[in-house]
Amino acid sequence: MIALGSDHAGFPLKEEIRKFLEENNIDYTDVGCYTPESVDYAISAQKACDKVVSGECDKAILVCGTGIGISMAANKVKGIRAAACSDYFGAKYTRLHNDANCLCLGARITGVGEALELVDVFLHTEFEGGRHQRRIDQIMDIENGEKLY
Ligand code: RB5
Repeated sequence: MIALGSDHAGFPLKEEIRKFLEENNIDYTDVGCYTPESVDYAISAQKACDKVVSGECDKAILVCGTGIGISMAANKVKGIRAAACSDYFGAKYTRLHNDANCLCLGARITGVGEALELVDVFLHTEFEGGRHQRRIDQIMDIENGEKLY
């Protein structure tokens, strides 16, 4: 199950992603927004990310104008590893190496065709584990207030 969310700037691209998920029979829950009316991205970020942390959803896909603000908000939710991506390599490697559980896209940066490719590779790439797990653990240790040095 994918948690999908956006602000107003991300709304048109979020709708395209929603159609893509439907066409590909990928279950999702859309936390909004549902209209192009102005809304603050942190609210959608928290709603979607809470569903990942609770286990209701496996991953989140979030869209704002740049993908940056919504990723900053998402990364404040404990347990979330959000990556703002605008290229295929980044979207693939943030799964392989960072075990990202939240993809953030910028509707004012990335076109629909490219964005759907990023969604596809993000959803279909498995974490490599191994040495990368240690680094993920360190990220989570920082989140828990531990000193790494
Ligand atoms: C909204 O105008 C815009 O600031 C927001 O979508 C996002 O790009 C912030 O990072």
